[in-house]
Amino acid sequence: SQLKAWRAAIIHCIADPKDVGVEHAYEYFEDGLLIVENDTIKAIGHAAELLPTLTSDTQVEHHPDGLITPGFIDTHIHYPQTDMIGSYGEQLLTWLNTYTFPEEGKFHDKAHARDVADRFLQELLRNGTTTALVFGTVHKVSVEAFFEASEVHNLRMICGKVMMDRNAPEYLTDTPETSYQESKELIEAWHNKGRLHYAITPRFAPTSSDEQLSLAGQLLNEYDDVYMHTHLSENKDECAWVQDLFPASKNYLDVYDEHKLLSERSVFAHGIHLCDSEYHRLHETGSAIAFCPTSNLFIGSGLFKLGKAEEHNIHVGMGTDVGGGTSFSMLQTLNEAYKVIQLQNENLSPIKSLYLATLGGAKALRLEEKIGNLMVGTEADFVILDKKATPLISSRLALSKSIEESLFVFMTLGDDRAIKATYSAGQCVHQR
Ligand code: GUN
Ligand code: FE
Repeated sequence: SQLKAWRAAIIHCIADPKDVGVEHAYEYFEDGLLIVENDTIKAIGHAAELLPTLTSDTQVEHHPDGLITPGFIDTHIHYPQTDMIGSYGEQLLTWLNTYTFPEEGKFHDKAHARDVADRFLQELLRNGTTTALVFGTVHKVSVEAFFEASEVHNLRMICGKVMMDRNAPEYLTDTPETSYQESKELIEAWHNKGRLHYAITPRFAPTSSDEQLSLAGQLLNEYDDVYMHTHLSENKDECAWVQDLFPASKNYLDVYDEHKLLSERSVFAHGIHLCDSEYHRLHETGSAIAFCPTSNLFIGSGLFKLGKAEEHNIHVGMGTDVGGGTSFSMLQTLNEAYKVIQLQNENLSPIKSLYLATLGGAKALRLEEKIGNLMVGTEADFVILDKKATPLISSRLALSKSIEESLFVFMTLGDDRAIKATYSAGQCVHQR
């Protein structure tokens, strides 16, 4: 077996600050050591205590200006929207028709899909994100290309084929039967293959018929541990449209609920305009919400009520929602999250932010035994942040009086330049 160690400051979350208080939610080692055996964390602690346990031939990488964190987890992103990020001037429904659908139309071509998937993964790794819950397009080949690209780096990734049989251009629609059949074939071929998982992915209520949503629910209930990934209550016009299309449903979430799409492995992006019974039902079914601040601001959707989700004990992870979102960087996503919460006269502490981007995301995806922190026995997915990344980060951190303040500086000023290296299952997958 192969032992390797990294010496640097190390921080990771071990619980939700909401449950145990900020000070008990994390472990911090100012001069820490992370020991990895093959692809797994073997030990974590103070360098002074752990260095003497190593044999003299063990390789120790020392990063005096480094801060090690768990790899970031992005709980909502669209890989086919990589090249249309920053599309100008529209809100959700016109944004979809004007920019998104034409771009997604290109993914019938597997070579194109693979090219974008490769560049998308590079971008995630440059930003320290090691796991993501990812939308493909309606084309089966788009998901095959994505999984094949993910396998190359041995990444823990979740993806699914979009199901969409109405209210979209013909070149982007399937049928209830083909969407069920192709999704099932993808599950059989890829779900739990290595570190890959499948998510049944109806785009959102307006682009699926009753029949398609029913078959999606049926498929979800045929498997124990397949995911369900969709959008929920993002934009006011969208919510009104859903009410029109599904007049018999009590509310937006109820459309999915009636089709048996709520589960412990269901992740709903956005969830901005929810009523109390929707929060209640999300909690009751163990469903999770992906909080996507850069997207919610950029497409003008609204402010996510993190306090409400917490009150109802709903699992929440962070999502970049690229290309509706404006950055692949989880640090920049937390920067915007802080401001979204500020605008509602609440606070988002740096430890809570770290939690949401790591262990909170892992819990939302039911992967907390495997990823999300650096506990012994978990998979060695981690990032080395660089305290000297830029002149400004360097001078600002020199004034920092605590690890919490330093984290906050990274989350405010940091982006891909702050990521010195990214590791997946113990292997270096990005280095600056
Ligand atoms: N709702 C339905 N499709 C989409 C999408 O592609 N992006 C976002 N942000 N919301 C959606
Ligand atoms: Fe989205």
